[in-house]
Amino acid sequence: MKSRLLCFLVLVVVLFLTPVSHSQRPRDVEQRVNALLAQMTLEEKLGQLQQLDGEGNGDFRPEHLDLIRKGLLGSTINVRGAQRTNQVQRVAVNESRLKIPVLFGFDVIHGYRTIFPIPLAEASSWDPLLAERSAAVSAQEANNAGVRWTFAPMVDIARDPRWGRITEGAGEDPFLGAAFARARVRGFQGDDYGAADRVLACAKHWVAYGAAEGGRDYNTTDVSENTLREIYFPPFKAAVDAGVGTLMSSFNSLNGVPASANPFTLTKVLRQEWKFDGFVVSDYTSVRELINHGVAANEEEAAALALNAGIDMEMVSRSFNQFGPQLLKQNKLTTATIDEAVRRILRIKFRLGLFDKPLTDETREPGSLLRPESIRLAREIAGRSMVLLKNDRDALPLNKNIGSIAVIGPLADDRRAPLGWWAGDGKPEDTVTPLAGIKQKVSAQTKVGYAKGCEVTGDSTAGVQEAVDLAKASDVAIVFVGEIADMVGEGASRASLDLPGPQMKLVQAIQATGKPTVVVLVNGRPLSIGWIVDNVPAILESWMGGSQSGNAIADILFGDVNPGAKLPVSFPRTVGQIPIYYNHLNTGRPPDPSNRYNSKYSDIPSTPLFPFGYGLSYTTFKISNLQLSAPQINVNGKLTVSVEVENMGRRAGDEVVQLYIRDPVASMARPVKELKGFQRVSLQPGAKKRVEFVLASEQLGFWNRELRYVVEPGEFRVMVGANSVDVLDAKFEVK
Ligand code: BGC
Repeated sequence: MKSRLLCFLVLVVVLFLTPVSHSQRPRDVEQRVNALLAQMTLEEKLGQLQQLDGEGNGDFRPEHLDLIRKGLLGSTINVRGAQRTNQVQRVAVNESRLKIPVLFGFDVIHGYRTIFPIPLAEASSWDPLLAERSAAVSAQEANNAGVRWTFAPMVDIARDPRWGRITEGAGEDPFLGAAFARARVRGFQGDDYGAADRVLACAKHWVAYGAAEGGRDYNTTDVSENTLREIYFPPFKAAVDAGVGTLMSSFNSLNGVPASANPFTLTKVLRQEWKFDGFVVSDYTSVRELINHGVAANEEEAAALALNAGIDMEMVSRSFNQFGPQLLKQNKLTTATIDEAVRRILRIKFRLGLFDKPLTDETREPGSLLRPESIRLAREIAGRSMVLLKNDRDALPLNKNIGSIAVIGPLADDRRAPLGWWAGDGKPEDTVTPLAGIKQKVSAQTKVGYAKGCEVTGDSTAGVQEAVDLAKASDVAIVFVGEIADMVGEGASRASLDLPGPQMKLVQAIQATGKPTVVVLVNGRPLSIGWIVDNVPAILESWMGGSQSGNAIADILFGDVNPGAKLPVSFPRTVGQIPIYYNHLNTGRPPDPSNRYNSKYSDIPSTPLFPFGYGLSYTTFKISNLQLSAPQINVNGKLTVSVEVENMGRRAGDEVVQLYIRDPVASMARPVKELKGFQRVSLQPGAKKRVEFVLASEQLGFWNRELRYVVEPGEFRVMVGANSVDVLDAKFEVK
């Protein structure tokens, strides 16, 4: 009894001392929101729902100051820099009637000034903690530059590499995607997005944007509710559960109803089922685009549709502001709907502490960017994100004392490509290119020659001969080919996944010299590189590795870092194979090369070029001895699944052990494999370790025909291995 009393007293003291600022206690926030709302005119309320874009260079538009003064603008995007944001904020908090601070948003996707690998690359690390750490650095830099809100993480599942925005997400799998969504939200927001080194996060694009037909950006999506709930929703649910403060609605129409006017996703799922209490911002002009979609005749109707469906803030188009008053008069919109949207936005502004501390400390910005520890982290993450695709006869790593190296290719000394799309405030001059990284890495005696060979675009092969001559005169040729930053990201869908321009000719010419050749890919999406895989002994997928990309590549090429990353997305053999993803259904006629009447193409194998989860190391691992804690579990039970992993080689290295399940007979057809667990483990040479996974039976369920989540009793398969193909297999039963 006494000890209970003591516990209670300790708890009271702890709660009392915990540094939650007065304004941010939930009840106080609601009181302050309501008190403020009660004083607002209709115009001021609509003003809070408006977000406008700044100038391209991070500056604000002078005419916005006047809107802010009148209380007609609640948020901006792209305005950044401590001084500039303060200049704007002073107008809001000193010169507007209600002194409501402005919320400054910016796309801090994989770095603010220190640029980390593109998110698809970070997902290749299969180490969500790394993404949490990079997001935390990005948040710290952005916050010190006056940015309080990032439009990230982008958590769209993408099964189509033609879609340029595959580069921004975590790939094709909902389980891996959810793990990275959670980690990134934690990294950006910490425990309190109002803290001085954090920012408010925004999970986007809600929803199914990655399912764009044909991989064409902004295109139509048609996805069953089952597939939405099992494939496209989970990363968003993970973000919401991790406390994400905002979501962004997507551009696409979903089953005929545009996502920016979709009551099912915006209200039923998000608010009613998931109890999300933050706000939703529409994507750039997506409210006005409801007219193009053909669901609104004009902006007035667009505003009514979007607001009534559950959009709170309108990005860039201005239909809420312009038409809100008349919609109210005509009873096409209620005051309650507007008030609720305002309440959600103010709630976040209070939680951010913006009312109590609206300005940014201008002295901190310079010292917060590109800190040595941030740069070190960027290098570490890049090294842990690059995937070794091929390494015949231990072609890699190279010896640092090698006599001469030919560094070849249009991306060998390109400072922009490694920064990828959405490079924040990243600057090409901060980039370490592969050429620079290699020069720093090798011995003083090693001769490093460089020949560009060709461009990424166009068709000129005029420089190829020079590159061939250099290769012939060197001990090894390293060829850097892939995509420039403009070829990936938004509005950058590609109909071909071949190496663009004359690059394949360059690779072929270098390979034909007979010199040992290494290809390093610098790209933002899977490419169909079958010829290279068939003909070149070593291939490293470096993705777009950020500011420190060149150092990280050199770390790997010369063996200071042993690659351990794995593909978060399947690589197709050719574009015609798309969509190709590992967690497909079995069909009634699964592919069988000996039988014509099967689900396959007649002109290529039915497998991908590289499967989901694939990647090599400079050492080899043996995964063996799969054990289950029990042959059967109850519908609400748990099972421990374990394997032994042994490093069979002479170098320390990492293996990503992956666990998949299959429900072979169910009331609905189920995928041939579903990822349900993974661990990246580091092992010294010769070391052996038992890796354990706990599989809870609720992970075994699915959304059935009545759209209820069910775990159906019966036999299950569990598979554990080093990628989605090479697995050990066991069975258990759910009672
Ligand atoms: C993109 C969003 C981005 C927004 C603001 C849109 O075009 O789709 O992802 O956050 O612009 O820059």
